Parts: sequence; structure tokens; C-alpha cells
Amino acid sequence: MQKFNISFLPDKKKVFITEEVNLLQAAAEAGILVKGSCGGDGTCGRCKVIIKEGNYTTKQTGKLTKEQLAGGYVLACQTTAESDLVVEVPEASRLSEHQVLLEEETVGEAVSQTSVDPLFKKIKVELPEPSLTDSMDDIERLKMAVRKETGIENLRVSLNTVSNIPGILRKEKWKVTVSLADVLGYTEIAAVESGWDYQKYYGLAIDIGTTTIVVNLVDLESGQTIAQKGSYNQQAVYGDDIISRIVHATEEKNGMEDLRNAVLKSLNELISQLASENHIDINVINYAVCAGNTTMVHLFLGIDPKYIRLEPYTPAINIPEPIRAEEVGLQICKTAWVYCIPGIASYVGGDITSGAQVIGIDKTEKVTLFIDVGTNGEMVLGNQDWLMACACSAGPAFEGGGIKCGMRAMRGAIERLDVISDTLDVEYSTVGGAKPVGVCGSGLIDCIAGMHKAGIIDRTGQFSSNLTNQRIRNGDDGPEYVIVSKENSGNGQDIALSEVDIKNLIRSKGAVFAGIRTMLRKMDLPIEIIEEIIIAGGFGRHISIKDAISIGLLPDAEFEKYKYIGNSSVKGAKMVLLSKTARDEAVQLATKMTYLELSIGNDFMDEYVSALFIPHTDMTLFPSLS
Ligand code: FES
Repeated sequence: MQKFNISFLPDKKKVFITEEVNLLQAAAEAGILVKGSCGGDGTCGRCKVIIKEGNYTTKQTGKLTKEQLAGGYVLACQTTAESDLVVEVPEASRLSEHQVLLEEETVGEAVSQTSVDPLFKKIKVELPEPSLTDSMDDIERLKMAVRKETGIENLRVSLNTVSNIPGILRKEKWKVTVSLADVLGYTEIAAVESGWDYQKYYGLAIDIGTTTIVVNLVDLESGQTIAQKGSYNQQAVYGDDIISRIVHATEEKNGMEDLRNAVLKSLNELISQLASENHIDINVINYAVCAGNTTMVHLFLGIDPKYIRLEPYTPAINIPEPIRAEEVGLQICKTAWVYCIPGIASYVGGDITSGAQVIGIDKTEKVTLFIDVGTNGEMVLGNQDWLMACACSAGPAFEGGGIKCGMRAMRGAIERLDVISDTLDVEYSTVGGAKPVGVCGSGLIDCIAGMHKAGIIDRTGQFSSNLTNQRIRNGDDGPEYVIVSKENSGNGQDIALSEVDIKNLIRSKGAVFAGIRTMLRKMDLPIEIIEEIIIAGGFGRHISIKDAISIGLLPDAEFEKYKYIGNSSVKGAKMVLLSKTARDEAVQLATKMTYLELSIGNDFMDEYVSALFIPHTDMTLFPSLS
């Protein structure tokens, strides 16, 4: 098999690859993250690169314009080398810095407060010295002292640790610091240090999202978050959504390894940055708690996720045992434990258990709806008496996937938008105040709401044939509405929303609303029963509740019932890291929720079809809009 040098510009990074490796994979190998929403199928058209020198073969070019073809553009995922190549990766094709949700936000009283009783801690103990009349062995003597200090009964010591203990005890005259790690069902004596002046110790609370990864560095003594960092999940080059990741993992040669390495690389880079910026040795990071959807947890732990997408959709595991950091590949203290918050089912994972725990849904009398609309719409409904969870395949439309001008909430994304009814002009604001380059989820909701209100589209999302305006024109995909012209955009291209895009978004919003209605139907409850609606995730951050209701994405409830919780996944991971009680409650919560599989029966499909209108076919569900 032939091998070629590929040089990437402007990075000046080189890789040496075999002829069968495509340029999307080659870029990933060079550490350059190229957008690949469709996972390399050649259908999203986002992985455009420019061949500057060399010979190549390209399979599909359908997504490229004549001008782009003339300019040397190819789709990286469809192109392989026939000689050494020089390839330019334009800015627009790169996964740039993501607006990762990092702030510590609260939902006031809804957030449970837990006292600090972390899964890893250090305690000072003084042991009675042995004598001829008290010849108990050193380890039993140590355990007795720890028991007396903490009340913990089930203590274990690994053989590696045992060998150092006798010498340290005698050298320190029986006054030592003991590290204790809670390992679900027992407590490990993880280390014994000399004296009582011990080093500080830390833990990590981690959210492994399909799109982004957030890591909190937590002081385990005070419970304070020292610093936070977030970035893209580098798995994004293998596809935007869970299904394309599972397909890559199970159908591509070395697919599992690609995805596991990508998530570990993302995590270890963030951990290394956090450690160096805070002058902390990675060896004093002694515990990590992760929350992620079921597929992300499988890939992180190296478990084949194949059956998650095959009927009857059973995951390999919902409640993983703690595992050593060294075994999983997390670059912290080798003997540290890594615990993943339990999930509920294939499409409702530990991130949702985490969020449900943070809002205390199992402790309130109020009927509460918890929604996390990411690349999949997951929700939990209930209160202290009953809990139901489901996942509707909303698709990644609200994260910009499958929408021509769609993008994630990155710099330059239009996040708020107003359509002026008289003139059909647009007022907007962008992430970071930069020149617009696309529209993110909150902007897309505003845009559909505004277009409907202004009469540009009807209730089915179809363009009105009566309106003439310079912003309405026929594009490649039929009628479209120009939000920003290329003269005013940040990438020299028109930003327009087509009828195809709008129908796609209506399908997504319809799936979310149908999921809510199906859960209520199962419990034979009206929509008005919901007393609190809590929205999680980056998506909910900037959405206008009013516009989300007006397009039929969210229930028509008083605005006061709505609350935004931010990244509840990482908050729940931190709660568990800092409290054994919270860890035990997370396990109970995950097992307590009834999972509703929406593909069984016709209820969801009936609701979905009714929800494919703006806002809905049944206007009695939206009294404030009638
Ligand atoms: Fe190449 Fe989608 S077209 S990744």
C-alpha cells in the first residue's frame, strides 16, 4: 500500500498516511478538527478543504458550487491522495472554539445543597502503639483507627499500599494521614502519608457531552470549584450525533479506538490545562465523576455501543462500577477512581440522571418537567411520587445540524433575531458581537416565530406565494428568506433560511412537544398539570420562551413556571463528587425513573403528526396564542 505526505495549511502540520485514508481522517490525525456533521457520508458538505498541490481522487462533489470546484475545493471525507498533497483548511471548515457553558448558575431553591462528604478525602489518625500485650497487625490497627475517626465499617487496602504502611507508621510514630476513596460498597484506604501536614487534594466533575466537554477542578476539602474548562468533544469529526458516532464505532476499522482516543484526548488536554494553569500536579487529582449520555459513557469506557441503536435498544450497561483512572486512560493520579453517573436507558443517560438530581425532581411535590434539548431531546416528568423519562429523536437541528445556515452557538452565530413585520427586515445580535456567519438554535426559533408572525410562512412552514420582498427569493432548495446578505455577513456568504430548513426545524420541535404530550398521555394528565418547567443545556441559555411557545416547541405555560438551569450535567457530577449521599441517591434516582420507549405503539406518532404545525393542530393547547 502506498503512503503519502499530507501538509496542512496554514497550520504547517504534516502527516504520513496510506492511500486509503481520506483527508478528513488525515486532518484528525494531524490534530486539525474539521467539521464533519454527517460523519464522512459526503452529505453535509461541511468538510470543505482546498487542494493546493498534488494529485487526488474524490468521490462526491455534489455539495460544492461551480466556483468552489474551480477554486480547488473538495470534500475532505470524500478525497484520498494519489501523491503527496498540500491542503488548505479554511477557517469556515474548522471546529472553532465553542461557547461552552461554564458559568455556575443555580435554580435557586430547586438546587439541593449537600454538605461536603467527598468520595475521596484525607483524614489524620493516631494509632495506639503495638506492644507485647497488644500485637494486632498493622493493617487491622490502622483500620480500627480509621473506623474510630470516621465510623466507616467496610474498609479495604490494596496489596500495593500494604507494603509501605508498616515503615511509615513506625517512622511517623503512629501519627499519619490516611487517604480514603469511596468505591461503591466499600471504602479503600488508598494511601498512607507521613505525618499530618498533607498535600491538598482535588477531584474532577466532568460533563461528557456529544458536542462539548466540560471539566470542573474541585478542591475536595472545601468543595469549591477552583477552575473550569470546556471544549469540543473531538469525536465531532466523526459525526454530529450519537447515531453517526455509533456507526463509526461499529462499522469502521479501528472505529471504537478512534472515538475513545478522541474523547480521551479532549479530556486529557483540558485536565492538563487546568492543572498547569492552577499549578497543580495531576497526581493530586484523586477522583473523577463523569456524567454523559449512554453512548458517550460507553465510548469513554471502551464498551461497544452497537446494541444501543438496534431494536430493542438495550445498552451494555446503565450503572457502571467505578474504574481506575489508569485503566480508563484518564491522566490524573493513576490509582484514582473514575465514576460514571448511572443512566436510565439507551437514550436517557447519566447526564439526565445528573440534571434530575440537581433540580431535586424526586423530592418535590410540584409536577416538574425537565428538558434537555441537545443533539437529542431528553426529558423527565414527575415529582416525588412518580417519574417518567423519555428521549425523542429531535435531531441536531437546534444545534445547527441539517440546517444550511445553522451552526452551534459559536462566535458569529446569530443568537437573537427579530423579523420586522412591516418591512420584513431583520434585527439581530450575535455571539461575541462578531459579524454574522450563521444562526444557532435560539436564533432559529426566533426566526421561525418571526417569519410566521410576519406572514412569510404559513402554519405548515410553507412560504406564502403572495409576498414579494427582496429578502424572499428562490434558492437551490426552493424558496428562502435572506436573513443577512453576503455583503454584511462575516463569511462573504448569504445567510438564508429555506423552506427545507424550516420543515426540518418543525420536525424537531414537533418531536420535542410530542415527547412531552406522550408522557402526559401515559399518565392521563393534562398539560396544565405541569407546575415547573426546567430547561437545561447550552441550547436553553438564550432562547426566548415566548418564541419557543409560539412555534409550539414548549408548552403554553406562564413564563414564571420556566427556569433555566445551565449545565445541569456537570453540576450533578460535582454534587456526587462531594457527597456519598448524593452518589447513593443518584443510583436510586436512575433506577426509580420509568423509561418510556416512544417507538412502542402509536401514541408518539399521533402526537408528532399533530405537532407538525406552527404551533400545533390543536390550538386549545396554546390558549395564549388564540
Ligand atoms: Fe464530509 Fe459531511 S460531507 S463530513
